[in-house]
Amino acid sequence: MSLEEIKNKLENLEKQAVAEIAQVNDSSGLEIVRVQYLGKKGELTAVLRGLGDLSENERPVIGKLSNEIKNCLAKKIASREQELKDQHEAVSLANLKVDLTLPGEVLTQGSIHPISEVMAEICAIFNRLNFAVVEGPEIETDYYNFEALNFPPDHPARDMQDTFFIEDKVLLRTHTSPVQVRVFEKQKPPVKIIVPGKVYRHDADVSHSPMFHQVEGFLVDEGVTFADLKGVLTLFIKEMFGEQLATRFRPSFFPFTEPSAEVDMSCFACQGAGCQVCKNSGWIEILGAGMIDPAVFKYVKYNPEKYTGFAFGMGVERIAMLKYGIDNISLFYENDLRFLKQF
Ligand code: PHE
Repeated sequence: MSLEEIKNKLENLEKQAVAEIAQVNDSSGLEIVRVQYLGKKGELTAVLRGLGDLSENERPVIGKLSNEIKNCLAKKIASREQELKDQHEAVSLANLKVDLTLPGEVLTQGSIHPISEVMAEICAIFNRLNFAVVEGPEIETDYYNFEALNFPPDHPARDMQDTFFIEDKVLLRTHTSPVQVRVFEKQKPPVKIIVPGKVYRHDADVSHSPMFHQVEGFLVDEGVTFADLKGVLTLFIKEMFGEQLATRFRPSFFPFTEPSAEVDMSCFACQGAGCQVCKNSGWIEILGAGMIDPAVFKYVKYNPEKYTGFAFGMGVERIAMLKYGIDNISLFYENDLRFLKQF
């Protein structure tokens, strides 16, 4: 073969290889093309083997040309390789159907329910006074809910509690006071306890719900007096509603306390002048309380000659309604986010 023939052949090989590289569609196909042209047994090598006929002067010309072609093809293969890789990535990204430029999803954060919040606030105040939190069962026996709290059988005070009975002598507790008896049975004085929890009564209107929450508190030790009760509750009301508020203790009746009192605070909305919130009385009833009746101590074998104690109980919904100016109790249970988000 003459120099020209070899040149032509090389240039044709190059054209052919370039065309094939451009057509190849995956990296294994590209490797086949590379071996075919640039491999040890490839076509370019085969051409270079037939240089025997050329003169000393002609050989370097072909050597140079074939090196250029080799380099050129190697470059083309490398860039096609990159191109195929990019294409492959683009396709798999498109298949993912994820738009990486979209803004992240904002997680909505819940808030603490106003009842839980008020209950926690009440407990926190008594925790600071060293009261420990204890809970009790919502399904109670007649013994703990009534009998051991000195409600005699057929006593009219039982009717006042609108009890849900489950079966004879088993009921949904109507107040948190049965936990007093449960604690006294297990623990000797001094006891200083706060009891948050759900209670149930057959009653429903804008300010009553068949299920509601109470916080009970009680303290038993030697030498506890009504003055201690007044001191603790006065401090509680000031902490909870405001330093400037006055308290008032009115005589009342509960079978398990003697004497018993209903506790009022001066109206925080009108400072006692009279308004809608306090129904023009200037006072708001906030809880029931009293000195624990010695009859209760007899049931739990506490010595009433040695120990005295006080107890109090309050409705959490009522306090939350007063605090936040809510006029319908059912708002607490409807799970309407427009309501709940405000807390
Ligand atoms: N348990 C009473 C009620 O639910 C409240 C109360 C508790 C009164 C403790 C006195 C002492 O009405």
